[in-house]
Amino acid sequence: MTTARKPPRTVFVCQECGYETPKWLGRCPECSSWNTLVERVAAEAPRPAGPSPPPLELSSLSHEDEPRLAFGLPEFDRVLGGGVVPGSLALIGGDPGIGKSTLLLQVASLAADSRPVLYLSGEESARQIKLRASRLGLTGGGLFVLTETNLDAALREAEPLSPGLLVVDSIQTVYTEAAPQAPGSIVQLRQCTMDLMRWAKETGVPAFIVGHVTKEGDIAGPRLLEHIVDVVLYLEGERFSSYRLLRSVKNRFGSIDEVGVFEMTGQGLAGVDNPSQAFIAERASRAVGSVVVPTLEGSRPLLVEVQALTSPTAMPTPRRTVNGLDFNRLLLVAAVLTRRVGLSLAGQDVIASVVGGLRVHEPAADLGLALAIVSSHRDKPVPPDLAALGEVGLSGELRSVSQLERRLLEAERLGFRRCLLPESALARAKPKTKLELLPAATLREAIKLGLPGGRQD
Ligand code: TYD
Ligand code: MG
Repeated sequence: MTTARKPPRTVFVCQECGYETPKWLGRCPECSSWNTLVERVAAEAPRPAGPSPPPLELSSLSHEDEPRLAFGLPEFDRVLGGGVVPGSLALIGGDPGIGKSTLLLQVASLAADSRPVLYLSGEESARQIKLRASRLGLTGGGLFVLTETNLDAALREAEPLSPGLLVVDSIQTVYTEAAPQAPGSIVQLRQCTMDLMRWAKETGVPAFIVGHVTKEGDIAGPRLLEHIVDVVLYLEGERFSSYRLLRSVKNRFGSIDEVGVFEMTGQGLAGVDNPSQAFIAERASRAVGSVVVPTLEGSRPLLVEVQALTSPTAMPTPRRTVNGLDFNRLLLVAAVLTRRVGLSLAGQDVIASVVGGLRVHEPAADLGLALAIVSSHRDKPVPPDLAALGEVGLSGELRSVSQLERRLLEAERLGFRRCLLPESALARAKPKTKLELLPAATLREAIKLGLPGGRQD
């Protein structure tokens, strides 16, 4: 070798987050980790690309929909927009233990009916997967399990199999030789996902990757990968409730308005045909502190039961607790009840929750929450045939909600007869509904209509 050659330029790369700097630092300015910067030869500047494809005039392209592969699990297909698009990469995120592997094993088995499926597992042994498959009543024909954490090797194995679907469970356990970091580090997550994206595009085979969301470290989790992949789905639910919601937060090939509702049974995840009915099934007919709210999950109306309990506090500051609702919405509703309705909540703990392990974040549930609190405070039930809908504003006014008719239709379908709603929601058009509508301009008025006979009336 000649000595005249310049020594290669080096950089210091953070082993946690991939931050690069020309000088050594004790602490990474990007992710604040200590002693993670390691000297590496700097990557060469990207070479000029070859001839690029000519620009295409949109009108010259066919506007046919992407072909899709439906799995025959309607709640799953619905969330994907009718099925998975060949060559697409989808991320399924969710808390550990929520049912991601179960769902994907079911889906993989359905796909294996037509073409081999490669299930790459870095978390469980082939035997464990076999046990789960037996529990799910799946034979496993056409389903090939590979317990390999080296992604490069795994993709080489995939070639002779020529699978119709690839599942990687989980992205946190695989690594590529191209990066020196440990599996699960940000650099590995990103690089492996990009490799899988390229593989899917080159082969035209769709791939699913599982990503755990960790409570403490969202940053090292799937959120980071959302912008790389084509489709992002999250499987949600409370650990101790059997319902699971599969929600789409990104879909390059379809709308993100669809949500799938499942129930975790002894034989895996089963689609729930009539979720509203399931979510309000256990409601006592004259329960104090319980109100049914027609919410929207994407474009799908779902009736949920919002519950509240007020009780005298034993603490210097009363507590506010939520489960399945937005904590700040509870604070807002409680403050408006105190200031605009005159309900004295100062010495009261308030606990609010959504039944069935669902999470409702839309402000349209405000009125239901407010009514539930008042109902508990007065120890008086809300009539069982009444649903409530509306956002509460800071001055105590009720604000309109989107897609009113859809919500009312769902309440009607499940046997409700009346609905409390913001007056402003009826300003533009009268919704077609058989429900008796009880419009109110303010929260105070709505409470009078829903729970007549209070002290302030
Ligand atoms: P799993 O799919 O392993 O979760 P993840 O991959 O998201 O970490 O699901 C684990 C839970 O699901 C476990 O607590 C057991 C439960 N389960 C059932 O209730 N029924 C079943 O048929 C299966 C396979 C699992
Ligand atoms: Mg798993």
